[in-house]
Amino acid sequence: MTDKDHSRPSADAWDELKNPRPMETDFDRVVASALTRRGFLSGVIALGSAAGAMGTLLTTTAARAQAPVFPFEGVDITTDSTIHVPEGYEWKLLARWGDALFSDAAVFDPAQGVAFASSTRVFGENTDGMELFQVDGHTLIAVNSEYSNNEVNLPGRHAEGKAATAEDAQLLRNIQGVTVMEVAEGADGWSIVVDSPWNRRITQDTEMRLAGPVAGHALVQTVSDPAGMTARGTFNNCGSGKTPWGTYLTCEENFNGFFGATAANFAQAAEQKRYSLGAESYNGYEKFDPRFDMSADPNEPNTQGWIVEIDPADASSIPVKRTALGRFKHENAEVVLAADRRVVVYLGDDERGEFLYRFVSDAVYVEDQPTDTLLDAGTLSVARFTDDGKGQWIALTPEATGMSAEEILVFARMAGSKVGATTMDRPEWVAVNPMKAEAYCALTNNTRRGVKPNAGGDETPVGGPNPREKNQYGQIVRWTPEGGDHAADAFAWDLYVMAGNPARHSDAYAGSRNVTAGNMFNSPDGMAFDSKGLLWIQTDGDDSNEGDFEGQGNNQMLVGDPVSGEIRRFLTAPKGSEVTGLCWSADGKTMFVGIQHPDAPFPDGEGSLPRSAVIAVKRSDGMAIG
Ligand code: FEO
Ligand code: CA
Ligand code: CA
Repeated sequence: MTDKDHSRPSADAWDELKNPRPMETDFDRVVASALTRRGFLSGVIALGSAAGAMGTLLTTTAARAQAPVFPFEGVDITTDSTIHVPEGYEWKLLARWGDALFSDAAVFDPAQGVAFASSTRVFGENTDGMELFQVDGHTLIAVNSEYSNNEVNLPGRHAEGKAATAEDAQLLRNIQGVTVMEVAEGADGWSIVVDSPWNRRITQDTEMRLAGPVAGHALVQTVSDPAGMTARGTFNNCGSGKTPWGTYLTCEENFNGFFGATAANFAQAAEQKRYSLGAESYNGYEKFDPRFDMSADPNEPNTQGWIVEIDPADASSIPVKRTALGRFKHENAEVVLAADRRVVVYLGDDERGEFLYRFVSDAVYVEDQPTDTLLDAGTLSVARFTDDGKGQWIALTPEATGMSAEEILVFARMAGSKVGATTMDRPEWVAVNPMKAEAYCALTNNTRRGVKPNAGGDETPVGGPNPREKNQYGQIVRWTPEGGDHAADAFAWDLYVMAGNPARHSDAYAGSRNVTAGNMFNSPDGMAFDSKGLLWIQTDGDDSNEGDFEGQGNNQMLVGDPVSGEIRRFLTAPKGSEVTGLCWSADGKTMFVGIQHPDAPFPDGEGSLPRSAVIAVKRSDGMAIG
């Protein structure tokens, strides 16, 4: 979800408005952050090992093979309403909000959007994380629809951005969630295979199973399921993940925005406060359905905020919420196997000052053996970074936290606070390098760094991988696990890049040395490695092209070389949109990219509502693209 200003605040801004964070920082922390900046300014490279490693990065370029790492010239910034890719590449639409998955869906109305009767039969709104699967020789894409832009989705019939009727609230619920669709490439490019038996919409009402330690616990017993074994729907599906056994992981992020409380005497519990669950919700569903009213059903929000596993190969399968992976504002779920083939999942919690997590399964993955319970038992840990370039994964155990095993998972944020996890600058996607044992996390920005604590009152001091106060640009941290094993508890870290604006600043806010006037950007968010080991970086930031962001243009996708540190701009997106979601065709010749919340006239031209979309990008010469 973007940080840009709509007619209503962003989810982040809403949470802070309705659930004010504690007092401002004390003087000591301001002094400490100023010292850090001076260190950077003097060229001493005093940001822990972060900037030191950046120096290393930039001296290793010569060691690379002679073949060009990037076979294209970087594109300039743009401020228009379409997509630009380098010379030698081309893009086409694959799917837009409202495109039919089934032939009984009504044709999209460019003025009114999706008809209620068709709202579960079409491609969903606000595309986000996605993954590609090959099933019986067919190509399937599972893709999230993160949220609704009610001004767009309910043209002329919303109240301050919220649905005004129960039917409209239901329509919004129907166009969010997950789409599974078969796609195929023909003479005109890629398109949806309408009526494919794999096509499926999973919405905010689809029945789900709860699995893992929390299933059946009192904390998830609800009015609709007093046994606490099921959940209704999936909410605010942000990033994604893919398991080695061919399932899709969808990640529930700002779920709190769907729950309110109508009782006048509603009192926010500490656990609700930590998750920004308050009386007035962002989306207003509680007005129409007691399920979203915490006064009537206090545990219902505890069934949201999880990682959900979906089998794309079976359109009748019941999605499973994997509670062992913890409950927070999940960004994505990056899966990698440990040296002994235990399953490691890296997980970011995208809120200012929240934490970075890791799950390690108890059991190992064995090909062709059952995987039904692999994600149900294991250890959830949080990251603690130190200024010396080292870090530790701290296991969230009852002994360490004083909480029960189930409470640790439902209220993972509170458990993380108890063990002193490092407060981060909004962890977005994690991506693991296929060529080397290292992982990267986009820390998108945090304008409250060094100024305000997180929602739990944990301080957010400047330092370590979060080296700038009031960080409006973001950075990418990476870590190498000890012994090259992602299950190891110790790691070494550095910063791959600090975004910034070298045309506006000459201090740390200029960015790291691999940021130039020619490639600058802000707010890294989506990330994925290609098969060659290059890191693709998508942005969701301020696209005003003014002030601190002058010269950065619309949101964009760049590609970075982990070895040299070089970063080059590959794609610029339509005004108003963020770029999010990325996967490749099985032959590597097509890259699918998500364009979320564009402004009109993208993509259908003047007079049409704007439509989020997935595009297919190819090289004009037909060679592989990643
Ligand atoms: Fe849905 Fe943190 O982005
Ligand atoms: Ca994101
Ligand atoms: Ca974002």
